[in-house]
Amino acid sequence: MNENSKPSSPQGLGMSRRDLLAVAGTALAASVPLGAVAQSLPTGRSVGAASVSTSPTDISRTRRLGALEVSSIGLGCMSASAYFLPFPGRQRMISVIRAAVERGVTFFDTAEGYGPFVNEEIVGEALAPFRNKVAIATKFGFAFQDGKMTGRNSRPEHIRQAVEGSLRRLKVDVIDLLYQHRVDPDVPIEDVAGTVKDLVQAGKVKHFGLSEPGPNTLRRAHAEYRVSAVQNEYSLMERSPEGEILSICEELGIGFVPWGPVGRGFLTGRFGEGTRFGADDHRSTIPRFFPDNMKANMAFFGVVSRWAERKGVTPGQFSLAWLMAQKPWIVPIPGTTDPWHLAENLGAAAVRLTAEELRQIAVDLAQAPVVGPRVSNPATTQNGVEARRR
Ligand SMILES: NC(=O)c1ccc[n+]([C@@H]2O[C@H](COP(=O)([O-])OP(=O)(O)OC[C@H]3O[C@@H](n4cnc5c(N)ncnc54)[C@H](OP(=O)(O)O)[C@@H]3O)[C@@H](O)[C@H]2O)c1
Repeated sequence: MNENSKPSSPQGLGMSRRDLLAVAGTALAASVPLGAVAQSLPTGRSVGAASVSTSPTDISRTRRLGALEVSSIGLGCMSASAYFLPFPGRQRMISVIRAAVERGVTFFDTAEGYGPFVNEEIVGEALAPFRNKVAIATKFGFAFQDGKMTGRNSRPEHIRQAVEGSLRRLKVDVIDLLYQHRVDPDVPIEDVAGTVKDLVQAGKVKHFGLSEPGPNTLRRAHAEYRVSAVQNEYSLMERSPEGEILSICEELGIGFVPWGPVGRGFLTGRFGEGTRFGADDHRSTIPRFFPDNMKANMAFFGVVSRWAERKGVTPGQFSLAWLMAQKPWIVPIPGTTDPWHLAENLGAAAVRLTAEELRQIAVDLAQAPVVGPRVSNPATTQNGVEARRR
């Protein structure tokens, strides 16, 4: 199917109020109107530049995460049931996930913690007809009580229980990629990796990953059992993996999966300096989206949108293409609950950036640094944590 045709999502998915707000946000926030370069779906919705071919062939060109081969862009399913409001509703998300499969996506990201639990059920139901064509990644590492996360727990017996629950909810016999969601400082990572190794030997898991690990913990985990992928926040606005983590991945042959690849929506241009998130939307707690910082960060977004215009693509497509141009073993998983956003995001697979363009982008971005950290309290963050030794 050509990207110019209407997405194969179910009937009746018209442009919602949220979609209209998103388009309005783009027009407000971007210094350059996208209309000049964008093409439209039959609904009139912009999906990308006229020069960008987004046929299924582009997206199904695969990349490797260690030994796992997946489409070059995956789909993040978290916001079907967690963190970003409003939630789309089960049937709408199932149709978005199935539209992704039809467009060539073979890599889907969920976690027991998203909801909790219900996200895996949605992903499992959506992908049940395509089980042998796709890879599902899920995550363990938290304890829950009465439907709420109560803290980290990566003790071996807890991992084994979590995996049984994930297998059941996902309706699968084996989990393609199992990540530790956050390092548990109280459990030696060798015990975690050893438990996952046992689960692989038992045929319940295929590949092992870590999310936001400390660098030493990543090395120690890999020494115990091969790590196929690291999943950290990485985007034009969050560059922290460029320190040690990406070098370790390169050295050890570990793939890298950027979460938050479109800056939790910011890099698509859907937010303006006046955007305010409701208290229940997780973005209201992120300092770089606080009102003063949001205003300051419009200068940064201006650089992104000017480059997008220069390349004849949308800011979101440019942001994803930039990530994919960093390394051939990087597979972004933009999260969306919207079929048109899905189509737009997958268009990034056809965008190429030259070495000279990448060099100039770095120079331009340095003129407008992002203001505000990604976490509200860096002292208590669960990111970059090292596990205790045995
Ligand atoms: N390992 C971890 O700790 C961790 C943490 C967070 C997320 N994740 C995973 O990574 C995935 C992606 O990260 P993320 O969802 O936090 O951030 P993201 O992909 O950067 O941004 C998602 C947000 O951007 C919006 N969006 C996406 N494409 C758009 C487009 N083309 N135009 C306008 N808006 C667009 C989405 O809204 P719409 O739904 O309206 O499109 C959603 O609000 C998640 O789904 C989850 O699977 C992992």
